[in-house]
Amino acid sequence: MTKRVVTLAHYYTQPEIQQMADKVGDSLELSLFAREADADVIVFAGVRFMAETAKILNPAAKVILPDAGSTCSLVTQTDVAALKKWRNSYPDHVHVSYINSSAEHKALSDWIVTSRNVDDIIAHLYAEGKQVIFSPDRNMGAYLNFQYGYDMPLWSAVCEVHDRFNEAALDEALGAVSGAAHLIAHPESPLPVLKRAGYVGSTSGMLNWVREYQGSTTDVIFVATEDGILYNMGLARPDLDLRQAPIYAGCQCNSCPYMKMNTVEAVKRAQQGDGLLIDYLGESEMASARAPIERMLEFSARYYA
Ligand code: 13P
Ligand code: SF4
Repeated sequence: MTKRVVTLAHYYTQPEIQQMADKVGDSLELSLFAREADADVIVFAGVRFMAETAKILNPAAKVILPDAGSTCSLVTQTDVAALKKWRNSYPDHVHVSYINSSAEHKALSDWIVTSRNVDDIIAHLYAEGKQVIFSPDRNMGAYLNFQYGYDMPLWSAVCEVHDRFNEAALDEALGAVSGAAHLIAHPESPLPVLKRAGYVGSTSGMLNWVREYQGSTTDVIFVATEDGILYNMGLARPDLDLRQAPIYAGCQCNSCPYMKMNTVEAVKRAQQGDGLLIDYLGESEMASARAPIERMLEFSARYYA
């Protein structure tokens, strides 16, 4: 019997990779799809923490990452032994971790969140009277503290792509537009950038914002996130003037080097069984990491039903 191979691709991969996929989505959508997938093999055209999450949620499947180098700076900047010490210094707090984290990191967490549900899950915890610590993304945490008046202690790692956006380049670009200009941004961006944004949300959230845009087609919309999503936005609304938010003059370097390791050749090889096989996570580590992810998925199913 032939093996059923399912290919998943994140919005940040190149258009040719998205066209090879059975499902394209943000991290929440891809986690859910991976959990439910009736697959012998899952090829995950994304980054390593995403492939690990797929394995944790669907342990019976063989999960393959096309390029072993596809990591994420939020993972590589987090020393898990130090994180454990930090976490233990807040024994009365709930530890909420962004899904952009290793399996070991997830196993030290009470809740996992994605950029789609982070606002709602933390609001839910505060409404229950809980105290919260947040890791690993300090930009996302700083935004939540600012936006909702929380005082969450924050771990300090950043996305090396989003952290490059800056208010000086943005102000110049926004000022150069003669008509109306808008900024939409991913919450991994620095706080001064997020304060200038009319909408802050996940990749799917931004895509929906663009899809439903009611303003004039002469308006300019700057998008502060990884450049891959511009492809999906252009497909959804070819009538709009969508531009990548600038980083500094002459540079459009908001491309994730790890996502872009998913080349057509690497994905094809992975579909043939070649790539990084996610088979190194221990049973008890996976079980400890699964609990906070399932908590998030259950909350999302209830909340967004
Ligand atoms: P999403 O949760 O919006 O898919 O973002 C994942 C990511 O890696 C952003 O840099
Ligand atoms: Fe990680 Fe940033 Fe790349 Fe997303 S864009 S995978 S957060 S390095």
